[in-house]
Amino acid sequence: MNAIKLHNNYFIPFIESTQIAKAIKKMATQIESDLKDEQPIFIGILNGSFMFIADFIRQYKNNCEVSFVKLASYQGTASTGKIKELVGLQENLKGKTVVILEDIIDTGNTLEEIFRIFEDKEVKALKIATLFFKPDVFKKDLNIDYIGLSIPNKFIVGYGLDYDGLGRNLPDIYQLKTANS
Ligand code: IMP
Ligand code: MG
Repeated sequence: MNAIKLHNNYFIPFIESTQIAKAIKKMATQIESDLKDEQPIFIGILNGSFMFIADFIRQYKNNCEVSFVKLASYQGTASTGKIKELVGLQENLKGKTVVILEDIIDTGNTLEEIFRIFEDKEVKALKIATLFFKPDVFKKDLNIDYIGLSIPNKFIVGYGLDYDGLGRNLPDIYQLKTANS
C-alpha cells in the first residue's frame, strides 16, 4: 500500500483490511456468546460506522435487529452549550437489549452523549461496541463493553472514517503522516 493524499495531507498505510476483518469476527463471536438467547438490536452510529456495521452484522449469526442513527449537534441553552440529539431512531427500545456500534472512540465525548440520550429509553441493557479505541486519549469513567482494535493517538482514515469528508471508501486504514512518521 502506498501513501495517499486527502486534501492537503498525506496518509500512510496503518491497518490492513484483513486485520480489521479478524477483529470484527472476534467481536461478533464474543457478543454472540455473551448475549446467548437475547435478541439484541444493534444500533449503528452513522456516518463513520457504516462499513463496520455491514461487516459486523454478517458475522453475527443469531437473530437480531439492526438500526441506524445519526448524532446531530444543535445549540443547547447557554448553560448546556453544544449538545447532541439522535436523528432517525424510530424503534421503541423499551425492554430491549441495545448494542451500540461505533466506528471509533477517541475522547469519549460522543459516548457520553450516547449514554445521556439512552438514559430515558428504558432499555433492558445498553452495551457499547467500538471498532477502534484510542486508550491514551480516553479519559472518561464510562464502560466500553467491546473493543475491536486499540490504537495509538493517531488520526486515521479509511474503512468508513473520514478526513474532512474524504477517505471513507478506503478498505484499509491509513494514518496521518506526521514529521516523525
Ligand atoms: P470522540 O467523541 O472524541 O470519542 O470522537 C468520536 C468521533 O470523532 C468518531 O465517531 C469520529 O467521527 C471522530 N474521530 C475521532 N477520532 C478520529 C480519527 O482518528 N479519524 C477520523 N475520525 C475520528
Ligand atoms: Mg462517528
